[in-house]
Amino acid sequence: MRLPRHIAILLDGNGRWALNRGLTRPQGHRAGGETAKRCTRNCHALGIQALTLFGFSTENWNRPMEEVQALIVLLEEYLYDIAWELAENNVRLRLSGRIAQMPSRIHQAIAFALQKTAGCTGMILNLAINYGAKPEMVDAANAALGAREKSINSSAPAREFFHLDQEGFRRFLYAPDLSFPDLLIRTSGEQRVSNFLLWQIEEAYYYITSTLWPDFDLQELWQAILAFQRRCLQPSRESQPAKEK
Ligand code: IPE
Ligand code: MG
Repeated sequence: MRLPRHIAILLDGNGRWALNRGLTRPQGHRAGGETAKRCTRNCHALGIQALTLFGFSTENWNRPMEEVQALIVLLEEYLYDIAWELAENNVRLRLSGRIAQMPSRIHQAIAFALQKTAGCTGMILNLAINYGAKPEMVDAANAALGAREKSINSSAPAREFFHLDQEGFRRFLYAPDLSFPDLLIRTSGEQRVSNFLLWQIEEAYYYITSTLWPDFDLQELWQAILAFQRRCLQPSRESQPAKEK
């Protein structure tokens, strides 16, 4: 049975999970971090090729300062924590987002985790940090303009930048070599895309579960994959040309 190649997860519900237990929001985020580790392990074990996790959005800066600070500390701990296990499992780390605008402590943690997993050739864990899909497209457009400028000023032929097509634009996105997600999961029952991978989810199956992210376990992952497989098997979907809406 066909497995999704690339699963992208809009993880949501840490705050509500904590509230339900009389815990603080940071405690919910800590539990969410543990779930992210478990989910990565499970995807690796199942043979998924790429997993994108929406860890921190460009909108998350608007949260109360204490929560943002807690998220940064947890993110730093998480990056140091996962580096060893990723390396052991041959999982390569990727980052998507406006990383340069993150605090320097995060840069150090990222550098450490990237260095540890640099030689890995297995599953890709793509962490979306300080990520927003519209900022990504703006960054891609600016990168394309910069490249065009450079090519005009050099002797190299500039034509490809004057006629940027979809494939050409894609090369300026944060993770151009990654296949687009074929399964997009959102937890906590919200039915919104929340500025996540707008360019890349054109063909993805969308799976929403009411389960809050910290409770998202192997069984939940299987449910999502089974729903994906059921929909792939539907003849009406199969017979549609890939680009038809
Ligand atoms: C997702 O959980 C956490 C992040 C990715 C930062 P939330 O913090 O949005 O949890 P709810 O929506 O308040 O329950
Ligand atoms: Mg939320």
